[in-house]
Amino acid sequence: MYSPVHTLILGSEGQLGSELRLALQEKMDPSQLLCTDLKAGGDVGLVRFETLDVLDFKALEDLFERSRPRHVYLLAAMLSAKGETNPHAAWKLNMDGLIAVLDLSLRYGIERVFWPSSIAVFGPESPRDPAVQAGYMDPQTVYGISKLSGELWCRYYHTVHGLDVRSLRYPGIISWRTLPGGGTTDYAVDIFHQALASQQYTCFLQEDSRLPMIYIDDAIRGTLELMNAPTEHIRCRTSYNLGAMDFTPGELAAEIRHRIPSFTIQYAPDFRQVIANQWPMRVDDRKARADWGWSPRFDLAATCDTMLAALSETSSVAR
Ligand code: SER
Repeated sequence: MYSPVHTLILGSEGQLGSELRLALQEKMDPSQLLCTDLKAGGDVGLVRFETLDVLDFKALEDLFERSRPRHVYLLAAMLSAKGETNPHAAWKLNMDGLIAVLDLSLRYGIERVFWPSSIAVFGPESPRDPAVQAGYMDPQTVYGISKLSGELWCRYYHTVHGLDVRSLRYPGIISWRTLPGGGTTDYAVDIFHQALASQQYTCFLQEDSRLPMIYIDDAIRGTLELMNAPTEHIRCRTSYNLGAMDFTPGELAAEIRHRIPSFTIQYAPDFRQVIANQWPMRVDDRKARADWGWSPRFDLAATCDTMLAALSETSSVAR
């Protein structure tokens, strides 16, 4: 039996969850934070951790009953590229997991729920430069279809039941603590690891494939700012476009070469190129800026400096 907690993170050991856990650990009494994932990840310190499959409804229900959280972050999901290799599993995890959490959040009177959407909600007929907040959307991946459907479910639970669900359409997230798993934007993380390990990288997207990206610190800060904003400021109940920077693999490689002159890159586009071609090059995030004051801090140069410094330090500690 638990005493009630303030915040529950479902999927706390992934790229986003692990960083959110660290950020929240610093801001609150760790005993007020409860984390779950399919399997244990890094050192969770004083934070309580349980293994949990969000598709196990009985276990999820039991968790809500025991912990009575006020805020819930649902971050367990299958990303775009992996989703294309197993569409039914992606749909099941991304949809059934969300609806179960929305239902339990209603039943247990959760104050605020966060659920991540993605630039994958856009498709080949959507405006790409930039992607507008509310325009035509025709996602072609199962991941994108699940995110667009999920956005509509979030709005439905807000409109019909009054549940305070908030969401961001993340661009590709760049971080160093964990490797992302199964995304189309992952090259922008892998490239830093390979640049340090072997000074060369073979990119699965072509040189001029422009995509919107965000550094993890901005992504986490934006998430917490959204969750802390007064309810009346949240005027988008599907999901907010979130912009920070955009670049191509060629531009990223050039930035890395400024810092590691021996770095070389080759291009061998695979099936992920088809996905990238359907996604926006930039996003128009004026609504997030106007409603709750979003403003990114990391540009490409700051991201490169921070990634290379952090990964150099972790690899020298590991030696
Ligand atoms: N980064 C994700 C992916 O590439 C997009 O949300 O799948």
